Amino acid sequence: MRDQLNEIRESAKLAIEGATSLEELKEIQVQYLGKKGKLTQVLRGMGKLSAEERPVIGQLANVIRDELGEVFENSSKALATKAMEQKLLKENIDVTLPGRQMNLGSIHPVTLVEKRIKEIFTQMGYTVEEGPEVENDYYNFERLNLPKNHPAREMQDTFYISEDIVLRTHTSPVQARVMDELAPHLPVKIIAPGRVFRRDDDATHSPMFHQVEGLIVDENITFADLRGTLLEFVKQMFGEDSSIRLRPSYFPFTEPSAEVDVSCIFCDGKGCRLCKQTGWIEILGSGMVHPRVLEMAGYDSEKVTGFAFGMGIDRIAMLKYGIDDMRLLFENDIRFLKQF
Ligand code: PHE
Repeated sequence: MRDQLNEIRESAKLAIEGATSLEELKEIQVQYLGKKGKLTQVLRGMGKLSAEERPVIGQLANVIRDELGEVFENSSKALATKAMEQKLLKENIDVTLPGRQMNLGSIHPVTLVEKRIKEIFTQMGYTVEEGPEVENDYYNFERLNLPKNHPAREMQDTFYISEDIVLRTHTSPVQARVMDELAPHLPVKIIAPGRVFRRDDDATHSPMFHQVEGLIVDENITFADLRGTLLEFVKQMFGEDSSIRLRPSYFPFTEPSAEVDVSCIFCDGKGCRLCKQTGWIEILGSGMVHPRVLEMAGYDSEKVTGFAFGMGIDRIAMLKYGIDDMRLLFENDIRFLKQF
């Protein structure tokens, strides 16, 4: 019996090592180690052995089974690797080629600046509101004290969907919409970022651009609050050394009105090409909310006052990143956008 077992050991080893495929290997396994396999059959005859012989033969059988199991495992691994290599070769896959690169996008400079603006104003206690881009003539103009045929409409020619529906020319209609919702509640303290549209198109004007509106209405709001708020904003946006300059201006929905310039961040106010040698760059329009605008919304203009401002986000992005043509922002050239 010992000879029989040793014979099985040798022939199984040879067979396993000679197998050329996983299928063949499987068959050999069944043939030797399976329920009806050669090893099992020999062991069935153990009953005829003497009591001294039985444990010795039993032990030998176990050693052989373990040994063959190991040879089988190794052979199986080697064949699997070979099979994979052959498959890859057949499919013409060169696993040494570098992988295909995933192109990760980056955040658009206008979005970055909008995020920062929101951060600065929410820290000052403002909430963020939104309004429709397709707007009624009523909210875009009438409610801002710009009746039909008002000459100030000229500066804000836009795209007409119909006679009474336009693509909004500024974010100011959100002022009226928010006040309609809140009046007579105080305070109103909101910013409203979004897209606006005008019939303009050159290096510093795009037919679609972005604004952030700001509005605060409460008791005892003064022009000094307007100035202080905007100065704080500019310092946080452009740095502690930045300053602002207010120039008298006109908007039908604010009185008095001011255009606000920031000290040129390229030359620190000394005068350069980008600020046209003035040391200042215009970034927004602002003013004290016109009493008529407050009244139309249902606020008592004898008791409450407010200030409002509207700034161009794209302008601020251009300043912050030194971009000299607004159209670059909207051409979606990845080589440009990847820089931010
Ligand atoms: N809406 C004005 C514009 O687009 C800016 C502005 C907003 C001015 C709020 C005053 C108050 O030019």
